Amino acid sequence: KVVAVIMVGGPTKGTRFRPLSLNIPKPLFPLAGQPMVHHPISACKRIPNLAQIYLIGFYEERDFALYVSSISNELKVPVRYLKEEKPHGSAGGLYNFRDLIMEDNPSHIFLLNCDVCCSFPLPEMLEAHKRYGGIGTILVVKVSAETADQFGELVADPVTNELLHYTEKPETFVSDRINCGVYIFTPDVFNAIQGVSSQRKDRANLKRVSSFEAMQPDTRNLPSDFVRLDQDILSPLAGKKQLYIYETKDFWEQIKTPGMSLKCSSLYLAQFRYTSPDILAKGDGTKNASIDGDVYIHPSAKIHPSAKIGPNVSISANARIGAGARLISCIILDDVEIKASENAVVIHAIVGWKSSIGKWARVQASLEILVIKASGDYNAKLGVTILGESVTVEDEVVVVSSIVLPHKTLNVGVQDEILL
Ligand code: GDD
Repeated sequence: KVVAVIMVGGPTKGTRFRPLSLNIPKPLFPLAGQPMVHHPISACKRIPNLAQIYLIGFYEERDFALYVSSISNELKVPVRYLKEEKPHGSAGGLYNFRDLIMEDNPSHIFLLNCDVCCSFPLPEMLEAHKRYGGIGTILVVKVSAETADQFGELVADPVTNELLHYTEKPETFVSDRINCGVYIFTPDVFNAIQGVSSQRKDRANLKRVSSFEAMQPDTRNLPSDFVRLDQDILSPLAGKKQLYIYETKDFWEQIKTPGMSLKCSSLYLAQFRYTSPDILAKGDGTKNASIDGDVYIHPSAKIHPSAKIGPNVSISANARIGAGARLISCIILDDVEIKASENAVVIHAIVGWKSSIGKWARVQASLEILVIKASGDYNAKLGVTILGESVTVEDEVVVVSSIVLPHKTLNVGVQDEILL
């Protein structure tokens, strides 16, 4: 049997995701119309002999209760949310629930970060892992050398695929091959985590009796039950014939900022074309709005037939899109109203729950981003325009490359601003 664990983190980790994380736990924010965590969960469907999916995090249980029960029914695989009392780190969180995870006596355990967007080639990883015969196999992707330092950089043997060297977010360049945050382990991983944890306890005791100071500066203040998968487990096990890599040539992105959620929404919409084309909107040009490219529209949303929508647009429940509206590259959240007009335009933006956009208004990225970079800059702080919950953009107001916090009313134009 196989068990999958998805690390969802908790509220303190979501600060870079503001203002969207003020309303919803980041793992439940919709990408291509489905909660972020839904994408790795539905990828788990392809794992042979999957017994259970666990989500581990320190959000309140009630945040996940509804989602977890509906997805269990849909997939016919039990999905459970396990709440940590406090953060234990990415490996400590797994270890904390080892007894539950081992109840099904799994031969293999998948471990997935929830904030990555990729095709999750899980059955392929399982096959490769069995061939390698180590305790873990890491999904790896090649990125540009300039961006590699935001991730765990690694070096592997090109023939055997053994992980030879691993450094988490290094200051000087090591490699353009990085850790995707998707792993498969045998249950032996629990021994490795326990090893780190008891080593920490011993050192802490030693320190107490003899004021022993020779500990690594970055581990000095960590409690013994806080264990990071990358620094504490992967780095020391590299080069010991225990860890291997599986390289993907497919898309891969990390989702730390609201702007990246727009990028990842487009990647998942494009994937739906192959995996579940029925989810995508089809414009027939007569009764429905005209649809351009990949678009998701929730069945309860109301779209005026004269609106034009796409590419890369996701529209959530109960949104109302008025006559003549033009939406390109955006996420429209629940209960948004875009008023009937000849010319309301939303380009490269995320419009928060219950917000409303007036007649002739524009909500968009800057011209520089739209024209010169062809809307490629999802990571810039003020690239994608973000409206928080219940923001009102009055008639004829233009909002460019700005972040607007919840409950604001905009009656004059703004550009490159963060409105608190
Ligand atoms: N349950 C729980 N408890 N989850 C946690 C905790 C914890 O205490 N700490 C982190 N996580 C979850 C996060 O929500 C995220 O899904 C995952 O574990 C990794 O988070 P971080 O440890 O903050 O690392 P990171 O996201 O900056 O980088 C990691 O992922 C990159 C790929 O996205 C590293 O492993 C990098 O090497 C890797 O490139």
